[in-house]
Amino acid sequence: MLDVNSFESDIIVESPGRINLIGEHIDYNGGLVLPAAIDKKIRLRYRKNDSDTCEILSTNLKSSFHIDLSEISRSEIEWQNYIRGVIYHINILKPGSVKGFDCIIESNLPVGSGISSSAALECGLAKGLNELFDIGLNDLEMIKLSRDAEHSFVGTKCGIMDQFAVVKGQENSLILLDCNTLEYKLIPADFSPYKLLLLNTNVSHSLASSEYNVRRDECDIALSAIQKKYPKYVSLAEIEPEVIEEFRQVLPEKVFNRALYVSEEQRRTRRAVQCLGQNDLKGFGDCLYGSHKGLRHMYDVSCKELDFLVDFSKNIEYVLGSRMMGGGFGGCTINLIHANKIEDFIEKTKTAYQDKFEMELSSIKVNISDGVSIIDP
Ligand code: GLA
Repeated sequence: MLDVNSFESDIIVESPGRINLIGEHIDYNGGLVLPAAIDKKIRLRYRKNDSDTCEILSTNLKSSFHIDLSEISRSEIEWQNYIRGVIYHINILKPGSVKGFDCIIESNLPVGSGISSSAALECGLAKGLNELFDIGLNDLEMIKLSRDAEHSFVGTKCGIMDQFAVVKGQENSLILLDCNTLEYKLIPADFSPYKLLLLNTNVSHSLASSEYNVRRDECDIALSAIQKKYPKYVSLAEIEPEVIEEFRQVLPEKVFNRALYVSEEQRRTRRAVQCLGQNDLKGFGDCLYGSHKGLRHMYDVSCKELDFLVDFSKNIEYVLGSRMMGGGFGGCTINLIHANKIEDFIEKTKTAYQDKFEMELSSIKVNISDGVSIIDP
């Protein structure tokens, strides 16, 4: 096992988690999303070891493993697959570029809470190996190969939003990303006098991966049916709700609901961006509530703990908006709260949550920060 104290790093990488303000389950439907990187990070320390093997240690999991670079395959142990997958996909793009290395991973990103510890790990690894072995990958290659690793090694058919935000994040900016073209615009993240707060249900979304893939399939079914009548559409998110309505009797009810959610969420995302531009934070908050309603009732990816937190916040006048964030089935809500009232809100909500579910609620104050970066050892 690697010794954390005596380990001499050649390089150190810090890789952030991400939040998403709005545009949930929209990335793989080819629409606009509004994520940002945050100041909660994974730190990866690397050294070359002049061999054909790698040793990786996760201090949080208190677990380590070896990889033989001549045969990289999937493991039964999930967290290893993020790492195996990234090395495998770097090797496809740049054969033989990854040589032997050791890596110690430390994290203050809670796993399974919807802030994408997975993309942080993938992109932190890609960035670190790129630097350590001077591989010459550009940002977009790192983003895409990290996503591909998650598809082929972990089995979650995720979109591209998380990896994009982790690599392209910038301090105090939101990323308005078009997931069809990958064009993006930075928007100032100025909510003052309000702030963002995450509340972690501590319900880990273990079912999420399989249900997530089911949602993707349902959206594909809807798009194919609509394309038969309207071949001009290339993605579900670009279709107006009025057009989706035409298919109410044609599509199975569930599939119709998924499609209508995507279309309405896309409209809400555009409206939310407009509200931000006009400093209409109340309007922006209403979009967050609207998003949660759709995710809960039409996309069916929420859970009772998330719903409770969002409903609870509706009765508190200094909260402008709240919704579940990320893949769903557990994890965090994202809340827009008056900066002076944050402590008050945390206390009230924790007590109510404890009384209701006999479980602890954690709060995570987030600042919007830079994407994955190399720092001085
Ligand atoms: C997960 C996926 C993303 C995205 C979100 C939902 O975080 O990794 O690609 O689909 O869920 O918006």
